[in-house]
Order: sequence, then structure tokens, then C-alpha cells
Amino acid sequence: MKRRFALIICVTALSLACIIAALPSPQDYAGDELLGRYKYEQFKKPDRCGQCHVEIYQQWRQGMHGQAYSHHWDEIEYFELAVPHAGKDPKMADLKADCNGCHAPLSFMAGDVPPPHVSEKSRANESVSCIVCHSIAGMKGDTPFNFNYIIRPGNVFHGPRGVGTSPEHEIRQNDFFGKAELCGTCHNEKNPFGLWVKSTHLEWQEGPWSEEGVECQVCHMPPAPMLNAKMGHRYDDVHQHMNHGAHDTGKLSGAIEMRITPDAREVVLGDPVRLTLVLFNAKCGHKVPSGSAEERQLWVRVEAVDAEGNVYHLPVDHKGFEGEGQTITSNEPAYFDIGEIKGIAGFQGLQRDALPEGDRIFCLPYFDPQGRRTICQWNTAGQGVDYRIGPRETKVETYTWEIPFEVKPGAVRVHAVISYRRLVKSVADFLNVPPDETEIVLISETQTVFNVLD
Ligand code: HEC
Ligand code: HEC
Ligand code: HEC
Ligand code: HEC
Ligand code: HEC
Repeated sequence: MKRRFALIICVTALSLACIIAALPSPQDYAGDELLGRYKYEQFKKPDRCGQCHVEIYQQWRQGMHGQAYSHHWDEIEYFELAVPHAGKDPKMADLKADCNGCHAPLSFMAGDVPPPHVSEKSRANESVSCIVCHSIAGMKGDTPFNFNYIIRPGNVFHGPRGVGTSPEHEIRQNDFFGKAELCGTCHNEKNPFGLWVKSTHLEWQEGPWSEEGVECQVCHMPPAPMLNAKMGHRYDDVHQHMNHGAHDTGKLSGAIEMRITPDAREVVLGDPVRLTLVLFNAKCGHKVPSGSAEERQLWVRVEAVDAEGNVYHLPVDHKGFEGEGQTITSNEPAYFDIGEIKGIAGFQGLQRDALPEGDRIFCLPYFDPQGRRTICQWNTAGQGVDYRIGPRETKVETYTWEIPFEVKPGAVRVHAVISYRRLVKSVADFLNVPPDETEIVLISETQTVFNVLD
């Protein structure tokens, strides 16, 4: 009898232990579980951190993490497209909250969704703030995506080092801070259709840099000698919070290196010359473009200039793969879902690339449920050929040009220019996005010369 009683107690205790182990510990909430879980007051403001972490604070403010909610294009896309779409389509209902899991995590955690407009200067404007990242203890699951970071609110800040002491807060050393996965919790995104619509971390993981242990931080948060806090230590390797990317001309500059060569140095008028253009991604840990690939543009234009200064555009040779049309600039009407979301009857669409036609554009096309091009990553039900340039990948393009008889004999110079634009201009103009988002940034250029004979 006693034995049986002991057994029952044992079994009950064991089951209880199992149940408790299966429940998340009160502090280990991540992803969707964080919605409305905490209060704004539990999180300090970035200005406070800036009183001691002066340089880091100023770098952060100037970077995109400091503006992830307040930046003009984010505000426009969220309030003019995502929120109305969430109101119309039950499949999209969660967007209202979900965008904030990455762009305004404090508002997501406070359940303040949609957050007030930027002009109301609410705490949503703090965007991806210091305390968001430094309250992250780890992530839930094996693959980082859709804000599956684990947040532990409080006054213990996680960081890479853990040797200093602070009068303001406790410090906990956490190796997660040196890892790409931390970044991946927001830099990989799976949309309501289950598609990867942002995969910077996954691209990196499949590429050569991850194998060599070159984490995101190496290129985006490089270490340099300085004080990491007033009254702190001086270290040789304080991680700079640059996090520079597509909004930084210097970071974009030289991202793709090129060389162009003709197949002959002397060509007779009327004969064809074949130019070979080699494009190499030496500098990026992931594909270019990465991240918001639905709206970023990377294209190369090749022109020849004859001895008299006449300019000839050379269209890229087609390779003949399926879906190639999406990888050659075109102004066919696109982005019809914008009109539908905004309820515009008879919407005629917007120019797909809003660029001169016939040039190679390195892209991953996103298609809406009707199979039409979209820049709404949440409304993406399919993707085309991924023709972006991968990390340390080299792409080759050719340009076959039958020299027209009007070309002036003598030296002909061929010029290739690769450029980047953050947002398709037709979309930006339609939605009144300020012009800095559509500024054309020079990535690099190359040229070659051959002689044309009579
Ligand atoms: C997007 C996430 C993110 C944000 C936002 C962020 N940090 Fe960091 N911070 C990191 C990571 C990651 C590291 C460590 C990098 C490494 O070890 O490679 C770090 C390191 C630090 C360090 C230690 C630096 C060193 O090497 O000694 C301090 C101090 C710090 N952050 C303070 C701040 C402050 C203050 C802010 C806001 C102004 C801030 N961080 C915003 C991710 C972030
Ligand atoms: C009153 C000054 C002060 C304020 C305010 C302050 N800190 Fe610190 N913090 C320090 C000092 C001092 C250190 C230790 C520096 C060292 O290593 O010597 C430190 C260290 C850190 C570290 C480094 C952790 C590591 O890896 O060693 C992080 C992260 C950090 N603070 C984040 C924050 C955040 C986030 C805020 C705002 C919510 C903040 N701090 C506000 C003074 C401050
Ligand atoms: C809490 C979510 C979150 C985490 C964690 C995070 N990021 Fe970001 N990051 C964002 C968001 C959101 C943006 C977009 C800001 C915008 O343009 O609206 C962004 C922008 C960037 C940009 C700028 C891209 C551009 O277009 O200029 C870089 C670079 C970047 N992050 C790198 C990192 C790195 C490296 C890490 C890890 C150390 C990291 N991020 C961690 C959310 C996050
Ligand atoms: C070997 C250096 C290197 C590594 C490693 C690296 N990046 Fe980058 N990253 C770059 C360069 C250079 C650019 C600018 C070119 C571009 O925009 O693609 C960039 C751009 C970006 C952008 C803007 C992309 C766009 O086109 O909008 C984001 C976001 C970003 N990086 C995040 C990350 C994250 C997250 C990781 C880790 C998973 C990472 N990077 C690893 C070098 C690197
Ligand atoms: C899983 C995290 C995540 C979610 C969810 C998310 N974003 Fe982002 N968003 C990012 C990151 C990271 C970037 C930066 C990528 C890059 O620079 O290429 C970004 C970039 C953007 C940009 C481009 C900003 C610029 O200045 O170029 C816009 C606009 C944007 N997001 C709007 C939204 C909207 C609207 C939603 C909800 C429908 C949303 N995002 C959901 C992480 C996220």
C-alpha cells in the first residue's frame, strides 16, 4: 500500500515536472507571444542610454535602426498600404501588429498597434532602440525569423563583454551578441503565404562568409578603440553601431566590381563585336540586393561612345532562361495591388522599373496572388527567378553589337555603369515618398576601348 502510494506521488511529481518544463518560463517570451505582454514603462528610453554611451547613441540615431518606425517611407508603407490592407483582408489582419515586431518592437510589446503616427512623437518613434536589442537573451527555435527574439525586460543588459560595471544597470555577458542569428530574428521574414520575403541571414548562412565565421557584426559593427561608456573602460575593440546598409552611399559603393572586354580590338563597320561584362560581389556577406528585395533595384547599363561622341545604348544579350523578362528592365504596367488596396477604380498600374529599357536588372521578383509584380512583401504569393548577385558570386553578361554604319571609325569607348536605387521611382512618386529614397547611387563603373575600321 505504502509502495503504491509512493509510486503515485512519484508519477504525479514527474508529470508536474514535465508540465512545468513544457511551459515557457515567465521570462521567455518571443515572437507573437510578446504582443501586448509588457508596458512601455518597463523599458528605458534611448536618450537615457545616450547620456553615458555617447558615441554609440549618436551612431544608432543616425542609422536605420534609430529610424525603423519614424523614417518617411516606413510610415507611408505601413499606414497607406499595410494597415488598410489588414482592415480589408482577414488573411492580412495580423499585419497591423506584426510589422511592429521588427520596426517598433516596444509598441508591439505594449500592444499599442497600430501605434500613433510619427508626428505624435510617441514611443513608437524609438524604433529599434538600445533596450530592445540589449534585453534580448536569445531566440526561440532553430531558425531566426519574424522577431523570434526572447526579451527579458528589466535592468540587466546583455552584451558581448560583461567585464565592466555600470552605475545604471547590471551587465550580463551573452555570446548571442556576436552571432548573426541575433540579426536574423528581424532580418529574415516569412510572410502570411509562408514565403521568405526577407532572407539576409539565410543568404549569409548559405554563403562563404558564414563558413569562415564572418558574422554580420564584422561588416556592420566593426570594432575600434574607444570608451564604450563615460566612466567605462577603454577597449581596443568597441563595437561601432554603424549598421550601415542600403541607405549609406559608402557601404553601397564598390559593392559590385566589374570588368568589360571586347572579343576583338579591331572591328570592321557592320561586323559584330561581343563584349563580356564580369560582375563580382566581393564585399557583401549576402546577396545584392538583400533585405527588402521587392523594392530595391540594381541594374547595369552599357553604352558605347564613338570618336565623334555619339552615344549608343547596348541592350544586354538574352540568356534564354525562364522568367528572364523580369531581369531585363521594362516599363510594362505593374503593382496593380497598390491600386486595389487603396480602392482606386480603374487603376492602370505603375511602371515596373521606371528605368530605360533593355538593361540587366539583378532582382528577385515578387508576385501577388494574381501573379502580378508587387512591392508589398506581405502580399507576395510567389517569387520568380532569383537573379541577384550572391556573396562572392561572379555573374557574366554579354553584349553583342553589330557596329552600325553611322559609327565614326576610330576609337570606340564602351562604358558599363552599375547603379542602385532603394525604391522603384514610379511607386515612390505615386505614394509621395521623399526623393532621397529614389536617389540613384553609383555602385561602380568600368570601361574598355576598341577600334572601328572602315
Ligand atoms: C540592432 C541591435 C542593437 C541595437 C539597436 C543597439 N545595440 Fe548595442 N550592441 C549590439 C550588438 C550585436 C553588440 C555586440 C557586437 C559584437 O559583439 O560583435 C552591441 C554592443 C554594445 C555595447 C558594447 C560595445 C563593446 O564592444 O564594448 C554597448 C555599450 C552597447 N551595445 C550599447 C548600446 C546602446 C547605448 C544602444 C542605443 C544607442 C545600442 N547599443 C543599440 C546590438 C545592438
Ligand atoms: C549612468 C551611465 C550609464 C547609463 C545611463 C547606461 N549605461 Fe550602459 N554602461 C555604463 C557603463 C559604465 C558600462 C560599463 C562599460 C565598461 O565595460 O567599462 C556600461 C555597459 C553597458 C553595456 C555593455 C555590456 C557588455 O557587454 O559589457 C551595454 C550593452 C549597455 N551598457 C547598455 C546600456 C543601455 C541599453 C542603456 C540604456 C537603457 C544604458 N546602457 C545606460 C554606463 C551607463
Ligand atoms: C529588432 C529587430 C532588428 C534586429 C535585432 C536587427 N535589425 Fe537591422 N534593421 C531592422 C529594421 C526594422 C531595419 C529597417 C530600418 C528601415 O529602413 O526602416 C533594419 C535595418 C538594418 C540595416 C540598414 C539597411 C539599410 O537599408 O540601410 C542594417 C545594415 C542592419 N539593419 C543590420 C543589422 C545587423 C548587423 C543586426 C545584428 C547585429 C541587426 N540589423 C539586428 C531590425 C532589426
Ligand atoms: C562581408 C561583409 C558583410 C557581411 C558579413 C554582412 N554584410 Fe550586410 N552588407 C554589406 C555590404 C557591403 C552592404 C551594401 C550593399 C547592399 O546593400 O547589398 C550590405 C548591406 C546590407 C543590408 C541592406 C541590403 C539592401 O540591399 O537593402 C542589410 C539589411 C544588411 N547588409 C544586413 C546584414 C546582416 C543581417 C548580415 C548577417 C546575416 C550581414 N548584413 C552580413 C556587407 C556585409
Ligand atoms: C521580420 C521583421 C520584419 C517585419 C515583420 C517587417 N519588416 Fe519591414 N523591414 C525589416 C528589415 C530588416 C528591413 C531592412 C531591410 C533592408 O534594408 O533591405 C525592413 C525594411 C522595410 C522598409 C524599407 C525601408 C526603407 O527605408 O527603405 C519598409 C517600407 C518596411 N520594411 C515596411 C514594413 C511593413 C509595412 C511591414 C508589415 C507589413 C514590415 N515592414 C514588416 C524587417 C521587418
